[in-house]
Amino acid sequence: MNTKEMQDEIKRIKKEKDMLILAHAYQSQDILEVADYMGDSYGLSVQASKTHHQNVVMCGVRFMAETVKILSPNKHVYLANRYTGCPMAQQMTKEDVLMLKEKYPEYAVVAYINTTSELKTVVDMVVTSSSAVRILKKMPQKDILFIPDPNLGSWVAKQLPEKNIKTFQGGCPTHWRISKKDVERARKEHPHAEILVHPECKPEVTALADYAGSTTGIMKYAKESDKKEFVIGTENSIVQHLQFDCPDKKFYCLSVECVCHNMRQTTLVDVYNTITGKEQEEILLPEDIMQKAKIAIDRMVEAGK
Ligand code: 13P
Ligand code: SF4
Repeated sequence: MNTKEMQDEIKRIKKEKDMLILAHAYQSQDILEVADYMGDSYGLSVQASKTHHQNVVMCGVRFMAETVKILSPNKHVYLANRYTGCPMAQQMTKEDVLMLKEKYPEYAVVAYINTTSELKTVVDMVVTSSSAVRILKKMPQKDILFIPDPNLGSWVAKQLPEKNIKTFQGGCPTHWRISKKDVERARKEHPHAEILVHPECKPEVTALADYAGSTTGIMKYAKESDKKEFVIGTENSIVQHLQFDCPDKKFYCLSVECVCHNMRQTTLVDVYNTITGKEQEEILLPEDIMQKAKIAIDRMVEAGK
């Protein structure tokens, strides 16, 4: 079977089996072409909260599939490739959060969506990169513990000086690979280009960029801009997608090192195997974890509107 034949089969079977395919923006082009929806972590959560399909296949990483399951507990949710974890989601446990809450009882705890479902059972709010500023602004609490990504946390804090946001150690190992030197080199090599980065990048990188936003925020900005050249500071798949969508513009990687090996693990064959039932990883979570984690995730979907 070649790529086109496999894609046609996936499209045929997903209709037959009432399956919805969700793909994060970092997935490969051949997967995006069979997906019903492509988006950032917030967009994927919104889709999950309103789907009518009985079966959902997530092409992304595990916490994304778990979020879908929590938002749609009565659906069958599958992770297209069982080995795709997010290293950032493993950086803090529920026990770590409980310890922080004891130390800072007067603070509200806000967790980035890139965390485990168990951790989400003890936090006040969940946010994504595209919804964090909007949601924190609406929260009545001034004092906030932002976990686990200090880069995203300090980017949010800069935009909300009225809040007292405390961050901790952690972050995305993929975006940490981008340095200030990469930005300086890109400015020299592409003097007419705009530099667009993800807020998971280090603060000194984000400070020198022309725009910082979520994966789909970056894509939207580049598509709508009158500029013709862009240097992209997020997972390098976004460079390929933008080049594909905007053939009259030029896109460059801010760092060739910005590759998420977890996101890149999922292949079209994994999607095919999941949808045909040849190899499936169904997401099953304990009932009490789903119910408790749903409270903070529902708050995010509602407050993010
Ligand atoms: P967003 O798509 O929400 O910007 O998240 C980026 C990311 O690193 C997902 O793991
Ligand atoms: Fe996790 Fe970073 Fe990969 Fe996103 S890009 S899945 S945050 S390691």
